[in-house]
Amino acid sequence: MEIFNEIKPIRAFLTAQKKLGRTIGLVPTMGALHDGHIELIRSSRQENDLTVCSIYVNPTQFNNATDLEKYPRTLAADSALLQEAGCDVVFAPANSEMYASPSQLHFDMGHLDKILEGEFRPGHFSGVALVVSKLFNIAAPTRAYFGQKDFQQYKVITRLVEELMFDIELRSVPIVRETSGLAMSSRNQRLTAEEREHATVFYRSLLLAKDLLKKGESIIPVREKVKQLCESVPAVRLEYFEWVDTVNLKPAENVSSQTILLIAGYVGEVRLIDNLILE
Ligand code: PAJ
Repeated sequence: MEIFNEIKPIRAFLTAQKKLGRTIGLVPTMGALHDGHIELIRSSRQENDLTVCSIYVNPTQFNNATDLEKYPRTLAADSALLQEAGCDVVFAPANSEMYASPSQLHFDMGHLDKILEGEFRPGHFSGVALVVSKLFNIAAPTRAYFGQKDFQQYKVITRLVEELMFDIELRSVPIVRETSGLAMSSRNQRLTAEEREHATVFYRSLLLAKDLLKKGESIIPVREKVKQLCESVPAVRLEYFEWVDTVNLKPAENVSSQTILLIAGYVGEVRLIDNLILE
């Protein structure tokens, strides 16, 4: 496995690989890798000759300084996991490499970055769009892999690729969960064993809501029941529970395979998100 910290050498390496006709899969991450990330690596390996994983905690997408500071950084363990998973190339740049000069560019995606995560994390998706554009330009991959865990992020990146005409195929990979149902997340590392147990309430809420909606209950009482369930668990604070159309992210009108339930909230000081597409 090759490890690069700088743009110039990884570009030269990947350009040479492309000249040999090799396809490249890019898996952008912020490290503190878990099985969810590794599933993206597996998907990329199935479809591409070469898999590149980027590990970079991107400051412009954090709207909370403590969250950025406390974000787990575990590069040595990450490299070992990637090696074992058969990843070919790691790109782990420093801030000075990714932001040689302070960024001036901001993205406004209308409705898409104002709702859900965009409402509670202003500027977050602009930072994501910026760093993903940089990574796409550095690696120029054939395909790029993202998780359904960050559903809205995937929509934002789809929009980015369409509008900026990146010649890249996007893939969305289903959510990988712990046996408890908790969606895997790098931020779970910040939870105590007890908090991890409490954190399962988000997935349990999604399952409860799905069940009630399928039985014909309307969204207002369902939202109330989700709120009550979350409030019944110590140290849990619900931020939002919404149901929207997967295509346009507008409030859903009825239960269909085009409907997604999304939830976000805190367990102690750690903010978590989860979602469920209604099959
Ligand atoms: P990060 O949170 O490290 O996630 C990297 C990728 O792994 C994302 O596409 C995310 O959706 C996916 N992922 C995380 N947990 C998952 C799970 N339990 N199952 C399946 N996939 C999962 O998302 C980011 O980093 C950043 O915003 C990034 C795109 C790298 C830009 O900085």
